[in-house]
Amino acid sequence: MSDFTQVVAVEALADRKPHRVVIDETAIAIVSIDGEIFAIGDRCSHADVSLSEGEVEGCSLECWLHGSAFDLRTGAPLTLPAIEPVPVFATRVLEHDGTSYLEINPTPLDIAKGLSS
Ligand code: FES
Repeated sequence: MSDFTQVVAVEALADRKPHRVVIDETAIAIVSIDGEIFAIGDRCSHADVSLSEGEVEGCSLECWLHGSAFDLRTGAPLTLPAIEPVPVFATRVLEHDGTSYLEINPTPLDIAKGLSS
């Protein structure tokens, strides 16, 4: 079963510049870093603002309002004031007619268990 949705051509993603998409009412922030693509919830866990308006710092996305940085691999907050993680989504790249497209599964990955082991 595949719940992936095609969202954007990979070449349209600028390096380290967040890109916002909405799939089934789920807002997702996409970040491409040196060809690796990450997808996390586009809503800060501290307040209801868009993370895709923030800055990429290393492998994290920093909230523009109060500065919490979220790990793009895990969704975990790395700095206060946020203390709750944001969801992380599975991505894949498929080629159609010579163009590579990013696809995202809008069901959050359950990575919290992996972090605690
Ligand atoms: S709204 Fe994002 S850190 Fe406060």
